[in-house]
Amino acid sequence: MTTKKKPLVYITRKLPDIVETRMRELFDAELNIDDTPRSRDELIAAVKRADVLVPTVTDRIDAGLIEEAGPQLKLIASFSNGIDHVDVEAAAKKGITVTNTPNVLTEDTADMTMALILAVPRRLAEGARVLTDSKGDWEGWSPTWMLGHRIWGKRLGIIGMGRIGTAVARRAKAFGLSIHYHNRHRVNPQTEAQLEATYWDSLDQMLARVDIVSINCPSTPATYHLVSARRLALMQPTSYLVNTARGGVVDETTLIKCIREGKIAGAGLDVFENEPLVNPKLLKLAHENKVVLLPHMSSATIESRIDMGEKVIINIKTYIDGHRPPDRVLP
Ligand code: DGY
Repeated sequence: MTTKKKPLVYITRKLPDIVETRMRELFDAELNIDDTPRSRDELIAAVKRADVLVPTVTDRIDAGLIEEAGPQLKLIASFSNGIDHVDVEAAAKKGITVTNTPNVLTEDTADMTMALILAVPRRLAEGARVLTDSKGDWEGWSPTWMLGHRIWGKRLGIIGMGRIGTAVARRAKAFGLSIHYHNRHRVNPQTEAQLEATYWDSLDQMLARVDIVSINCPSTPATYHLVSARRLALMQPTSYLVNTARGGVVDETTLIKCIREGKIAGAGLDVFENEPLVNPKLLKLAHENKVVLLPHMSSATIESRIDMGEKVIINIKTYIDGHRPPDRVLP
């Protein structure tokens, strides 16, 4: 009797134990137990031998790397929702299928977006820091101390009304914000009615009208610097910007300048243009309590990460079994 050889699956980062155990059972899984980010050379060596590559958002799977791949590499099953770190066109040209892990991190990402929408105007990080730094020896409540701005009744402008944008809208509505959105196309009338959402065909006009902007669109060549210097200038001086999508959607240098010059009141950012590097000017603004910065952790729950792993496994398994993987991005 011949036993079918298990596919060599190269996983670039440490995944939850339960996911790794399952991967080991099903595949010839090459894990990254100590979670050291893989170098370019290591990735090149990997794509020359692996049947399946499992990258994350910290890996650059560009055309150059894909060019190096051996003919055995047939699937890039990314452990991520966003897919901007993979050149899907280059992969498709080489006959490599690309999959991602949509849906499972929607609610967790929306929670964190809502947390930033609340945290910035209500000075949450600053308040927590004041108390921790005081080591308990603080002056106590005062009628004029730590005053932020009311959320209820404000206008929220969502850029990108996909799954995450819609989940943010549901939460924000419950907090008494009115929902405005800009999207490539209008969402269905039922969703719009439920959310009492106003659609803005013109992003420029929406930016000029809302109090808080939340970026929830994917990073693509078309959305690079979508919130450009010109568009940032349209925002009101009392407005805030929240980004849990990708840093490249905003012109970060201009955003910093606008906040510094008081043209925008502040920002809550979970993602950055040159991740993992964070612009020192942003860090300075954080120390001055003008921005709240998080280390790309919107989907960082045990549940999301296990579900993402399960999706990766299903995508690989379906592909290996000769079927179309459910989360196929291209081709
Ligand atoms: C994603 O998957 O795109 C998130 O940004 C990280 O989990």
